[in-house]
Amino acid sequence: MKTLNDIRSTFLGYFEKQGHSVQPSSPLVPRNDPTLMFTNSGMVQFKNLFTGVETRDYTRATTAQKCVRAGGKHNDLDNVGYTARHHTFFEMLGNFSFGDYFKEEAIAFSWELITKELGIDPNRLYVTVYHTDDQAANIWKKVANLPDERIIRIATDDNFWMMGPTGPCGPCSEIFYDHGEHIWGGPPGSPEEDGDRFVEIWNLVFMQYEQFEDGTRKPLPNQSIDTGMGIERVAALLQGTNDNYATDLMRNLILASANASNTDPDGAGKTHHRVIADHLRSTSFLIADGVMPSNDGRGYVLRRIMRRAMRHAHLLGLKDPLMHRLVPELVRQMGGAYPELGQAQSLIAETLLLEETRFKQTLDRGLKLLDDELKVLPAGANLPGETAFKLYDTYGFPIDLTQDALREQDRGVDIEGFNSAMDKQKALARAAWAGSGEAADATVWFDVAEKTGATDFLGYDTETAEGQIAAIVQEGEQVTEATTGAKVQIALNQTPFYAESGGQIGDAGQIKTETGVINVTDTRKTAGVFIHIGQVTEGVVKTSQAAVLEVDHARRTSIRANHSATHLLNEALRKTLGDHVTQRGSLNSSDRLRFDYSHNHPLTAEEINRIEREVNNYIRQNTPVETRVMSPDDARGLGAQALFGEKYGDEVRVVSMGRASGSGKGSDKSTYSLELCGGTHVRQTGDIGAFVVLGDSSSSSGIRRIEALTGTEALNWLREQEATLSRVAAELKTSTADVPDRVRALLDERRALTNEIAQLRRERAMSGGGVATHAPQDINGVKFLAQVLSGVTGKELPALVDEYKAKLGSGVVLLIADADGKAAVASGVTADLKDTVSAVDIVKTVVAELGGKGGGGRPDLAQGGGKDLENVDSAIAAAKTILKG
Ligand code: ALA
Repeated sequence: MKTLNDIRSTFLGYFEKQGHSVQPSSPLVPRNDPTLMFTNSGMVQFKNLFTGVETRDYTRATTAQKCVRAGGKHNDLDNVGYTARHHTFFEMLGNFSFGDYFKEEAIAFSWELITKELGIDPNRLYVTVYHTDDQAANIWKKVANLPDERIIRIATDDNFWMMGPTGPCGPCSEIFYDHGEHIWGGPPGSPEEDGDRFVEIWNLVFMQYEQFEDGTRKPLPNQSIDTGMGIERVAALLQGTNDNYATDLMRNLILASANASNTDPDGAGKTHHRVIADHLRSTSFLIADGVMPSNDGRGYVLRRIMRRAMRHAHLLGLKDPLMHRLVPELVRQMGGAYPELGQAQSLIAETLLLEETRFKQTLDRGLKLLDDELKVLPAGANLPGETAFKLYDTYGFPIDLTQDALREQDRGVDIEGFNSAMDKQKALARAAWAGSGEAADATVWFDVAEKTGATDFLGYDTETAEGQIAAIVQEGEQVTEATTGAKVQIALNQTPFYAESGGQIGDAGQIKTETGVINVTDTRKTAGVFIHIGQVTEGVVKTSQAAVLEVDHARRTSIRANHSATHLLNEALRKTLGDHVTQRGSLNSSDRLRFDYSHNHPLTAEEINRIEREVNNYIRQNTPVETRVMSPDDARGLGAQALFGEKYGDEVRVVSMGRASGSGKGSDKSTYSLELCGGTHVRQTGDIGAFVVLGDSSSSSGIRRIEALTGTEALNWLREQEATLSRVAAELKTSTADVPDRVRALLDERRALTNEIAQLRRERAMSGGGVATHAPQDINGVKFLAQVLSGVTGKELPALVDEYKAKLGSGVVLLIADADGKAAVASGVTADLKDTVSAVDIVKTVVAELGGKGGGGRPDLAQGGGKDLENVDSAIAAAKTILKG
């Protein structure tokens, strides 16, 4: 039997033999396309090669690409688990030509691979072509010898492929497999085409156009090929089934789910296991590529998929979380082809466990609410939008989870009602989701890149250098010169300025030519071009001029120190907290560093101490920082830390620092920190000077953030702390060492005094210290005592009411205190009278008379306040009226 892993190697091997460069899958979070939420097909990483803005040293490539289709165009979430072929995660095998071969070879390759290498019976194959594409139809006839009735012309969008609203696109030709008469369905284009008998297995796209936002299309500079074969479908047919979930890989995941839940894989929980198996793949791969569950953007799509799986796990009758227990099996199945899975294994398991534990807390109550609602809903009626929104808002049910639950009952949701309730949240989510932002001004820089090539970066070795001005951009347009005052973006053929990347901020400094000066405040890069952002401060600068470039040395020195300290911190965190710690983001600026890492608990003071001590030990070790360039595989082989989802080229820089005493990294296992990194670093760890942690806080779910200082900033901060402490000591007239004892003594003293004052006030009030003292009166057989007090606060009244109640034995107490010119009111009724009169009524009446509002409490003790103290007498009179009945 050909396993899924066999098919992948056969495909890649075949195209390698045909002169294709085998490229790794790109991350699920696209780096070069702000319009796409997730990588949804093999061509995404090659988008700029099709449009011609980028070239590489190969024109033929082949990949096995991990894809997610959930959210945005090509969204399959709703159907997953219920059908034979829908997935949120799948692998797409593809071959690509960038202006190299076109239709003829693409069709010939596909036919040979399918019928010879994979041995699929040609008599079971059908193809479609776009209705106007005679050329493709003729090639199929010639290459495959297919009769006319098995070359089907399709006039719809099904045979015109677009990656999204914009980007490269073109007519396509799809290859279908006929699973045989025993399954219902008809060939593509027929009324029965939706059946399962004829299954598309491979899509060949003849890339010819680029689609723009305004709907127009321009021919591409070169005709190209993009193909996509669904590996799960081909595995199914080669393994004699038409159900993707019955293939070896998916079946093993389903069995893992059944084992872990102690249920029958094919029994009542069959659909649940299918959903779980699919969603396990998408969620794990997304986490490995740096996505974390959150409430907007990509993180929310991840959360929706996770929770959908978790509801199905719950329906299997499980009390404890399930998903995290399936990660080892997934890594066994797919870790060989996708090493990032194994590397992120503990993070994936931890994230799944945390999310499932949290979601379980509201899941039961949400499902009960849904059940109760369904009981009273007329047959066939949709669930009201507000209920769906409540499930979403209060119980964490994403809308598709609710729809999924209703699907089992053949009901829908009143989406309009849901949407209007959701509009506010949506507006927020939209604002937060703004893509990667790479495209906004990218076009002009792609033009520059094409003309001048990528900028040569000299800044690892020098902070000053000469370069030639390649382009000046002002307000988004290329210009040939710029004069004093102009805000400009400058590209040069080479530069020592570091462009913001990998968390390190861009350099600032000066660019000087014979005729003018530019003050550079930031440096970024697009399409390999370093963009120096700044303002002309003197004279005029022109393209083609030679320029002297000077990086702001002091600023860069601090940035280096912060960046190197970040590497030491990363390792110290892993050593202190464990291997699950992975970098989730960082900022290395000139005044501080920030480091985000995966960890679920706040750091203790003791942990912060250990981490800080360890980093400072390595600073004092003062060993040289070494950088080497090697292949990504060699670097990982040495144990280098890499960022998941980061795109690394053929060569990577590996930065090592610190001599480890125990078992470290590197070929001789003596290196403390080893990271893939393109940033600039100190020469010796001692150059970092000092390291101080400012604090550890929560950045988002499961991610912590450390902020820290190095060098002079660290020393300045320590000095400031010390100065503050000295000021405190001076105020307290004691030494800094005695400050804690002194403060504690003062607080104790304060507490004792406060108690004493409260006691004295109560005593004074009880011993006739009131302004107006009245003897208890008998009203309708009830003893009524009213007192007006001063020097007592509202807070103290309840205790006084109790004391008066005790004195009376049975009766009603009304106290009005002059609290800073306002009236505080309290009334109490002894227990024996609680059915006769309520303190709440009394307080309400009195408060109204005193020009206040409200008042309330319990029938035996109520409180309120007013402002018109002069009305005290009429207020007491009003209280009496209540007792008179
Ligand atoms: N990009 C094409 C697809 O996804 C091959 O179907």
